[in-house]
Amino acid sequence: MTPLFAANWKMNHGPAEAERFALAFTSLTFPDAEREIWFFPPAVTIQSLADGFRDRPDIRVGAQDVHWEVDGAFTGALSIALAREVGASGALVGHSERRHLFGETEKQTGLKMRALVDAGLTPFLCVGETLEEREAGLTAEVVLRQLQAGLADLTPQELGGVVIAYEPVWAIGTGRNATPDDAAEVHAEVRRALEHRGAPESIRVLYGGSVKPSNALSLLGAEGVDGVLVGGASLDPESWAEIVGFGGSSAAPE
Ligand code: PGA
Repeated sequence: MTPLFAANWKMNHGPAEAERFALAFTSLTFPDAEREIWFFPPAVTIQSLADGFRDRPDIRVGAQDVHWEVDGAFTGALSIALAREVGASGALVGHSERRHLFGETEKQTGLKMRALVDAGLTPFLCVGETLEEREAGLTAEVVLRQLQAGLADLTPQELGGVVIAYEPVWAIGTGRNATPDDAAEVHAEVRRALEHRGAPESIRVLYGGSVKPSNALSLLGAEGVDGVLVGGASLDPESWAEIVGFGGSSAAPE
């Protein structure tokens, strides 16, 4: 399976910074068919970053969030068509910050997944339990419920174009990553649920939450981890290039 490296810049890096980043990152990495790289910058930065990487077919840019409606009176929201117009080929759906800080519901994640698939963009469905849920032994239940809600309206064939990211909320931005064994355990549950839904084996399941150069290789080596979704460590071209360097033909993870 081609490993996938996704950068979530959250509310960081405007267009000027993105231009500088693209130049630096391009000089530190080379196109490699054995890996896939995605960036999710703020909406105002999508175009600048997509332009900066126009000579890099291995790199794609996506939106951090989209609305499921085609257009209309939705102040502050970004439609899929507008995101695509400035260069987005995909979008995150249900990131834990959208769920927990902005009240995104499981039903809304399903609507966004459906709309993205209809528009031909790659949706990245993010799922993950909070610390309280983990301590109450509810990890599998929560993750599988979020998965089911996000994928509810998709056919098995459509699932082939989707990416899943398991991101335990307690590991995001805390410096406390899941161990490779923790990740492998949840990834196995996710994979079983996907098989049950008739999803093709080629569907990729990423791990996210405090991934950095020092732990990326061991997490990428965990059973069932097909790539990583990285916040903080993707903001610097050098640390992100180092993580991306763990994929591809130069140093393929086990
Ligand atoms: P982090 O964020 O790498 O800074 O923990 C990951 C994410 O939120 O996608």
